[in-house]
Amino acid sequence: MLYCLACHGDLTDSPPDLWVCADCGKQYPSINGVDVFILPDALSALPAYLREIDDTKAEFSAISTSLTAAETTGASALATRIARNQSGMSANLTFLEAVYQPIADFVQNHPCDAGGFAANPLKSGYTGDHMLPYFYQDWCGVADYEAVKNLICQTATAHCQDKGNAAVLGAGACGLLYSVANHFQKSYGVDLSLPGLLMAKTLIEGTPLSFQLKEADWQEVTVAPPTSAANDIQFITADVMALPFKSGTLSLVITQYLLDIVSNAELFSQEIYRVLKPSGVWINFSKPFSVQEPAELGRYRLAELPDYFNKLGFVVEDMSCQRFTPFNLATIDAETDNVDDVVHFFTLRKSAALMQIPEPKPISRFFTKNAAVWHEIPRIVEGRGVGFFQKRPLNDQLQGELWWLNVMGKFIAVPAEMALLLESLFALMDGERTLTAVFSIFQDQGVALTEAQFLILIYCLNRQYALIDLHEAVGL
Ligand SMILES: C[S@@+](CC[C@H](N)C(=O)[O-])C[C@H]1O[C@@H](n2cnc3c(N)ncnc32)[C@H](O)[C@@H]1O
Repeated sequence: MLYCLACHGDLTDSPPDLWVCADCGKQYPSINGVDVFILPDALSALPAYLREIDDTKAEFSAISTSLTAAETTGASALATRIARNQSGMSANLTFLEAVYQPIADFVQNHPCDAGGFAANPLKSGYTGDHMLPYFYQDWCGVADYEAVKNLICQTATAHCQDKGNAAVLGAGACGLLYSVANHFQKSYGVDLSLPGLLMAKTLIEGTPLSFQLKEADWQEVTVAPPTSAANDIQFITADVMALPFKSGTLSLVITQYLLDIVSNAELFSQEIYRVLKPSGVWINFSKPFSVQEPAELGRYRLAELPDYFNKLGFVVEDMSCQRFTPFNLATIDAETDNVDDVVHFFTLRKSAALMQIPEPKPISRFFTKNAAVWHEIPRIVEGRGVGFFQKRPLNDQLQGELWWLNVMGKFIAVPAEMALLLESLFALMDGERTLTAVFSIFQDQGVALTEAQFLILIYCLNRQYALIDLHEAVGL
């Protein structure tokens, strides 16, 4: 069912905490039973998770300091709120440090070299702190969310005759995954948020989670575990743009509030097509996703979806526009805002009749020795709004050179030399040079990258950030 992302080889379960590829030897950690399948290198990506908790700590500490500095004269209602904020942050930090501890333990027992781009894909996964309201929404009986869970489960049972393997992608707090798992033999929860999956697994296995909900004025929340055991669930930390499932193995894929945030909806849809069995079903409940070209058109409208998905090998079985209020906290806090989202709810089937669509090129070509990939021509994707800049907070002293890659408003920290390297790389991508030509100019310029490192960089830019397209050279 699962395979090595890099070479598609079979995995051997190497106790107690690693999956190892029998062909290329790549290792994938398993941390407290959550399996980490990330490219380019799962082990060296782990320290980035630990930086998340350090960042949360620094952020809480800065907020707390400025609240103390602003403290109002003597006892006042505002002073009470400041104290509530500060004790909430302190309690959550203790809670979150325990969530991240298994990752710290794993890294300590398996030291590895973290660097370059290997650590950065995690930026699209949510941090432990960011996940907390999702646990409230998924598990504390919020009516809007209960309705969506029921709607998706009913749709899944009605459209999926084959109750084999299901996967919830971007599973988040895994409330939906738990409900879906009741209807399938085996279910997979996939998310880049390793702390999120660690919390979800702990909860589903019977331990309550207690934290303070800052979105509801720092009220204490205890999320109770489900009372009945779940069917077989496997938790997988992975980028949904590169899934570790063998082709044609899933009966059902569910995406909820994900399709609109992935880096490239078309590549993502092709990946779902790949992992589904013939006639497998894809159920989506997400905000409308953006038109890539021309980007000026904004988001797709519902009526445009059948055409879009037919070309990708799916037929639409059902589709509708719904409205959903995320994080409706009205029952615990009368002073929170509620905003309604428009949502595209659709059910697609991988079509036997449309099977002639060409197979997308496999990810393994970036990680295994092969000549063909070098003939591909990179081209910068229009409208991805990419830029580099140096961040220097006005009220802070500059510590080292911090460069950021800004991709459509999302910031990815990159070391200074990587920023320079990317800048010269983009300058060489003129839509005509092949990867061989670009690499050879790079070498002439004295850039110290091996062929393998260069291809990993191309993989990240193409697949994880969707900043470049790769085209076949005409006449080859
Ligand atoms: C908006 S949240 C939705 C969570 C969940 N579906 C829900 O509504 O409760 C998006 C989730 O997708 C995950 N995510 C975002 N980009 C991802 C990617 N490229 N691969 C895997 N997970 C991703 C985030 O970590 C987060 O848990």
